[in-house]
Amino acid sequence: MAKSILLINGPNLNLLGTREPATYGSTTLPQVVEAAQKQCTEKSITFAHLQSNHEGVILDCIHEARGNVDAIIINPGAFTHTSVAIRDALLGVDIPFVEVHISNVHARETFRHHSYLSDKAVAVICGLGIYGYEAAIEYASRHIKPKENA
Ligand code: DQA
Repeated sequence: MAKSILLINGPNLNLLGTREPATYGSTTLPQVVEAAQKQCTEKSITFAHLQSNHEGVILDCIHEARGNVDAIIINPGAFTHTSVAIRDALLGVDIPFVEVHISNVHARETFRHHSYLSDKAVAVICGLGIYGYEAAIEYASRHIKPKENA
């Protein structure tokens, strides 16, 4: 149902494909983004993507999405475990979001078990590898309703 999806990837996800491949796999971020774009195009969904290593840039992007985007899919990377500001931004713009993690954060270090976003997310996907992005887009496309003013 969502007509417009914004995908956000946080810090270090630009290194996908070469970064700790045993944990994150060998697919690069451009490949993930291309597949997401294709998936959205096939469903006539407008797609935008941001990857940033800077918390403030992510905040600005979330703010700019207000009124323009029906659903946000976000892998906040390490900001998951630290950022009250990203939580507040997502709540502030009132856009439903799906939190995605490539790895199963609950099977890793205890500091990765807590997320500042999960209790406010529509859904949390972790441990499915990059398929998590595809699953999140599929879910949003079917179940997240467009806002009347979006
Ligand atoms: C991650 C998990 C985080 O703990 C980590 O800091 C990342 C990636 C994931 O996709 O599995 O950068 O969000």
